[in-house]
Amino acid sequence: MSDTLDPRPATGPSRRRLLGAAAGATALGAASATGLLGATRADADPAADRGHGGSRGSADPALPADRRRPGHGRPDRATERRIDALLRRMTLAEKLGQLQLVNTADLAKAGLGTAGGVGGLFSVTDSAVLDAVQHQAVEKTRLGIPLIFGLDVIHGYVTNFPIPLGTASSWDPEVARTDGRISAAEARASGQHWTYAPMMDVTHEPRWGRIAEGNGEDPFLTAAFAAAKVDGYQGSDYSARDRLAACMKHYVAYGGAEGGRDYNTVDVSLQRLHNLYLPPFLAAVRAGVATAMASFNTIAGVPAHGSEYAIREVLKERYDFDGFVVSDYTGIQELINHGLAGGGADAAAAGLNAGVDMEMVSTNYVDFGVALLAAGRVTRREIDDAVRRLLRIKFRLGLFENPYTDPKRAVTTISAANAKAARAAAARSMVLLRNEDDVLPFGSGVKTVALVGPLGRATTDLNGTWAGLGPVTPPVTIEAGLQAAGKAVVYVKGCDVNGTDTSGFAAAVAAARKADAVVLAVGETADMSGEAAARSDIGLPGVQSRLVEAVAAAAKRTAVVLINGRPLTIADVLAAAPAVLEAWAPGSQGGNAIADVLTGAVNPGGKLPVSFPRSVGQVPIYYNHENTGRPADPDNKYTSKYLDLPSGPQLEFGFGLSYTTFAVADLRLSSHTLHRSGGSVSVTVTVRNTGEVAGDEVVQLYIHDPVASVVQPVRRLRGFQRVTLAAGASRTVRFTLTPSDVGFYDGDARFVVERGTIHVYAGTSSDDTPLTDELRVV
Ligand code: NOJ
Repeated sequence: MSDTLDPRPATGPSRRRLLGAAAGATALGAASATGLLGATRADADPAADRGHGGSRGSADPALPADRRRPGHGRPDRATERRIDALLRRMTLAEKLGQLQLVNTADLAKAGLGTAGGVGGLFSVTDSAVLDAVQHQAVEKTRLGIPLIFGLDVIHGYVTNFPIPLGTASSWDPEVARTDGRISAAEARASGQHWTYAPMMDVTHEPRWGRIAEGNGEDPFLTAAFAAAKVDGYQGSDYSARDRLAACMKHYVAYGGAEGGRDYNTVDVSLQRLHNLYLPPFLAAVRAGVATAMASFNTIAGVPAHGSEYAIREVLKERYDFDGFVVSDYTGIQELINHGLAGGGADAAAAGLNAGVDMEMVSTNYVDFGVALLAAGRVTRREIDDAVRRLLRIKFRLGLFENPYTDPKRAVTTISAANAKAARAAAARSMVLLRNEDDVLPFGSGVKTVALVGPLGRATTDLNGTWAGLGPVTPPVTIEAGLQAAGKAVVYVKGCDVNGTDTSGFAAAVAAARKADAVVLAVGETADMSGEAAARSDIGLPGVQSRLVEAVAAAAKRTAVVLINGRPLTIADVLAAAPAVLEAWAPGSQGGNAIADVLTGAVNPGGKLPVSFPRSVGQVPIYYNHENTGRPADPDNKYTSKYLDLPSGPQLEFGFGLSYTTFAVADLRLSSHTLHRSGGSVSVTVTVRNTGEVAGDEVVQLYIHDPVASVVQPVRRLRGFQRVTLAAGASRTVRFTLTPSDVGFYDGDARFVVERGTIHVYAGTSSDDTPLTDELRVV
């Protein structure tokens, strides 16, 4: 399609294609085009009920029945009146200016000097600079509209918490809430208003570097963490001087990138979009998230930045999201590379029509907005709505009342309280993957430790990707952590993270022989995960596996500590070392937290939020897969499996060990009948610490719908709870199942609750659910 400013018909095939609604003629858009989406409402056409006795309506989690927070779905009237008044005074240039987000102070100053101005500035951390630019915006522009300042505060600003994949391993959303709260307090005091987090891209792709930024492979777990993190950042009122407006990202289905290559194509069915990728976004909207960021990928042939279906219809209409949507970095411009737009005018029209309200870095809205409006390719209503949404968040941030920041309040160091919180969060996020013969913990009998491996003295690599962009305090190293825990440490590097040099092995082996115990610190550097950091081989890089084998063979007691931003293929490590601890990138207090766990001061209780494949050739491999017509059977060749690998992952979703043992028993359902029209069933499970020391267990509740109009995952997480129990103690954990829990979105994106049997499972991992029962949905 050529890039043109010619008037187009308001509707019709050519316009729909340009809008990114071309899918309307085929897959995604078809649902909306035929009005089926509206059929999720309770009063929808009953004739749409299907063979399995599905019901729609009130159970649909997307219905805005549980709006809890002021600020979404229920705009505050006084604010809306102020916005109305402002909109009436704004010129078109000023409106388009608000929709521009720039990334340097110079661009902001230059933009503010023009008739249109700019709306916001991001990635600038000097609070004095931010304050100066804000003074210009408020005092030197015609309407004095304050700028919004954004930053990627992903898992910390000055104090770094574990990477989000690590935090998710805690299976304790309070960890994410604390990270959000502390990050917000530090960043807001330093002049920031808006964080580009939480990232909530569910993914089955360990090759994808951005898996580090999310919460793994499960929509239910991710939704819980997304909501908690939003709450941590925003609190109940993000005009407070210690809160930030959050930005849920990346909207949507970015985690489906083909081959795990960043920015890559995603082709996704409507049912999978709604069942797998969208639930965390819905949860964040219900938690009151202020903003959203569009994703770089296509969704069934339409780039997300041009997806009228995903943004306008699902997010803004169906979910009732009333914040604004920002593009990702040059995401509007990239519509040209995608091939949706023939030039900047097309790109701007597609983005505005789709509902992307603010353009990050590229300038197509301001460059072409006036002409597009004149040509009838965008409407005044679309522009006004985009500006209204942006102003709404600026008002909610209190920027019109308190635009300025006091550079003296900027946070530059980690406080003792924040260090303590980061240390506890990191220890809580670690997952014990192997512990043969109780090699760990290294108690008082272990006096000397040989610390071997390229990450033993790592500092910023412990922060992982998207480390806090505030002033950097290097994290506590593993060496320092072990020393602080009273161990005499001899450090030998052994090899680099990447590379082929094995000349350091001999010294490492010699040191290992002499010490009471060995800690092998191996894994990935921070830049090996995160954005644009896909790997095709997800084993330990370089010769590190060989180092592990050589050293573990020579040592009395060995524990491997993995520092990494993605699931790794570690069959070799698990075979060679008797103890393996997954520490992820643990953040500022990483060394201390690792020492806490290795010495037993903290009993590890994390669980994997993502499957670890045996080999990269198994990818995608995830616990909540659908059954095939020929489920894997080792005794039958003609079933779904590989000839050269056992079925299933190396380590499954929900897996993690402890220094103690637990037993679950007494799965009880308050009723074996659940009415589709409402009500709930409560499920209780008793968990007992059967070992010698106190510890944590995560009780997990799964369901399976064995006969459904859309084949259902073999297991679906529907509840989890992390409990701490003294040796010998037990506790009864309670979950609730409602029609929303057993229902699903069908191929037309309708939420259905079908009659029939639901299998209920409880246990301590997705592959260890000894307790089972059944429920009849009637
Ligand atoms: C690109 C990334 O995809 C996004 O996650 C980030 O927030 C923006 N850049 C801004 O830095």
